Amino acid sequence: MRKKFVAGNWKMNKTVAGAIALASELARKIGSDAPPCEIAIAPPFIALDSAREVIKKSPIKLAAQNCHYENDGAYTGEISASMLKAVGCDYVIVGHSERRQYFGETDAIVNKKVKKVLSEGMNAIVCVGETLSEREAGVTEKVVETQVRGALNGVLESEMKSVVIAYEPVWAIGTGKNATPEQAEDVHRFIRQLVASLYSSAVAENLTIQYGGSVKGSNAKDLFAMPNVDGALVGGASLKVDEFYQIIQSAHNFFTTI
Ligand code: 13P
Repeated sequence: MRKKFVAGNWKMNKTVAGAIALASELARKIGSDAPPCEIAIAPPFIALDSAREVIKKSPIKLAAQNCHYENDGAYTGEISASMLKAVGCDYVIVGHSERRQYFGETDAIVNKKVKKVLSEGMNAIVCVGETLSEREAGVTEKVVETQVRGALNGVLESEMKSVVIAYEPVWAIGTGKNATPEQAEDVHRFIRQLVASLYSSAVAENLTIQYGGSVKGSNAKDLFAMPNVDGALVGGASLKVDEFYQIIQSAHNFFTTI
């Protein structure tokens, strides 16, 4: 049974104090009972240490939003995967479209980061997704295939248990316009088939594929009802505890406890 997974990408939001407050409120709300799915939060780098303290008695896992692909050295302003491992991260988001768009991340860079995250024993959340013009040009599958192949180049079958793919159509991110459940399902099914062809049907069956892009409490249920949608990578709504909690609770009807 593949892992069902809801993660909150806080992006460049919250001071350390604000992150502690948000993580504490979420941990209180979730309590210590087994949740309906895996849960993670990805605060900004400087808040990771404090957030870990706050969530350590809860089932919430810690994620980072990015990393560098080298271990250490003269890379001013960067954070390595080993540093993230040392601070207690279980997951690292890699190849988010905002990194690709604003910071020039190519598939080759994303690939190096994925491998580094895996080599540190953490899980990689690999983001893929097309822009609006790409969707309108009918090349969604081509774009997603190139990104998936690029990100996973050289990743071993045995490492795939530590890979999550997040399908995040760029046109749906922060726009309030989520992909319809059917649009998401079509691409998720395509990704699963692609992974089956790259590895095996067992790897594809066990792969968690999250949807991301304007997920809210009100639309999560319909998305989660799709057979190939295994959870969500949530941006804006993860900054509001009630909204994020509602998304997590939406998993109850569709996902069994892991
Ligand atoms: P929004 O949920 O704000 O659309 O952001 C999605 C996202 O980019 C998560 O990584």
